[in-house]
Amino acid sequence: MKNISISSGSALNPDVVRLAELIKKEYDNKPLCYVHSYGCAQNVSDGQKIMGILSECGYGFTDDVREAKLIVLNTCSVRENAEDRVFGNIGELKRLKENDPKTLIVVCGCMTQQKHIADRIRESYHQVDIVFGTYGASKLPQMIEQVLTSKKRVFSLEDTSDIMSEELKQLRQDTVKASIPIMYGCNNFCSYCIVPYVRGRERSREIEPIYEEAKALVEQGCKEITLLGQNVNSYSFGFVKLLERINSIDGDFRIRFVSSHPKDASYELIDAILLLPKVAKHLHLPVQSGCDEILSAMNRRYKTSDYLDIVNYARSKNADFSFSTDIIVGFPGETYEQFCKTKDFLRQVKFDNVFSYVYSKRSGTKAAELEDNISEKQKGLWLRELILEQREVATSWLSRYVGKTLRVLADADGRTGEGYLAGKSDENIIVEFRGDSNLKGQFVPVKITKAMNWALLGEIDK
Ligand code: SAM
Ligand code: SF4
Ligand code: F3S
Repeated sequence: MKNISISSGSALNPDVVRLAELIKKEYDNKPLCYVHSYGCAQNVSDGQKIMGILSECGYGFTDDVREAKLIVLNTCSVRENAEDRVFGNIGELKRLKENDPKTLIVVCGCMTQQKHIADRIRESYHQVDIVFGTYGASKLPQMIEQVLTSKKRVFSLEDTSDIMSEELKQLRQDTVKASIPIMYGCNNFCSYCIVPYVRGRERSREIEPIYEEAKALVEQGCKEITLLGQNVNSYSFGFVKLLERINSIDGDFRIRFVSSHPKDASYELIDAILLLPKVAKHLHLPVQSGCDEILSAMNRRYKTSDYLDIVNYARSKNADFSFSTDIIVGFPGETYEQFCKTKDFLRQVKFDNVFSYVYSKRSGTKAAELEDNISEKQKGLWLRELILEQREVATSWLSRYVGKTLRVLADADGRTGEGYLAGKSDENIIVEFRGDSNLKGQFVPVKITKAMNWALLGEIDK
């Protein structure tokens, strides 16, 4: 495994300076760009790095794609429907390009890291000017300059890790919550998953640059830091050591992390979560299936009994310890009996939250060689069945919080009604309560009065 030392310093380079000058000549006013990231938190963080470098080149930002002179779609390929959505969105941009040919369209990220997708864009989506994958964001100024000067499209599909991109500074708009990538890539090769193919092998950042970045964010008033990686507990400089270091930063903030892999989840990790006061008492631990044969076919390298062992250990120390998970239904060859084992597993573990997906065949993965023998209709029915099961479990399980006071980071308007605020508790559960909007961005003690299947309701505990 390769380790890299990365600072999050500025990437002011000659390409940036040249493009900044060119932009001043090309446009009367500061040109705006629209950057949209699909998919996971890691991709959102990449999108923030792209915004960081574009800002240095002199671009401003807009949420209205029609105002933009530069449109960046930072894509996800984890499931087919994610890809379909991107192709639909690229199609819609054709008219914008026709109205103003000076508008540049960039498509990048996990989808375009795959040659067959880049080829499809090259052949059928002529409105797209620049294509690159998950590497190469640091070369975006150079690519924009090339298109502006030569009026030719640029396709840059490197497949080697670009240390420069990993060093780019994120432009964060949320001042209350921030995420920090601690590692890139994935070594696990779960048989259904495209991520290792589009993100490369695991590369961990060293502890100190991550600490410095977190410290600066806390000093700027950030209240929640999420450490990001596809498998954070295989972080190569010691994940518990990193948690301890971030926990030592002075200030009122909390630490979260996603995602963890059950094969690397240890008692030591649970002990650290329970011991370190700033670490939220919650673990997102994707199980994917509650059936051992399916787990083996998925190449997950643990059994349901290993998973239950971690859950039981955590709950023996703290009965309220909160777990959430990801589930895939309809893996090739899965039988209804095997699917029912997953439903039983939800009842056994009692998750606070479950993210469930239907299996989507990803070409190039091992599972794509298996016959995808379950119809989309069948997968949809199983998904509904699973969601209903979880709703039932969650309503009774979440009621354990009624009468307790949870610490909620208020950050949005509530859905319950006028005057309600919403935020997440340390346990990562949505809590709604009546409160003044100036509480947004603050930790609020909320006494829980009611459990619903998707959230808790409460009132400020004075
Ligand atoms: N690295 C994390 C992990 O292992 O839990 C997250 C990986 S992925 C970005 C997030 C979730 O997408 C996975 O946990 C899995 O449930 C789901 N997923 C990945 N590949 C999929 C596929 N081919 N079809 C359906 N769901 C998939
Ligand atoms: Fe995909 Fe598995 Fe890696 Fe998660 S751990 S990103 S599911 S290969
Ligand atoms: Fe999607 Fe890539 Fe993340 S495939 S889920 S954006 S790592």
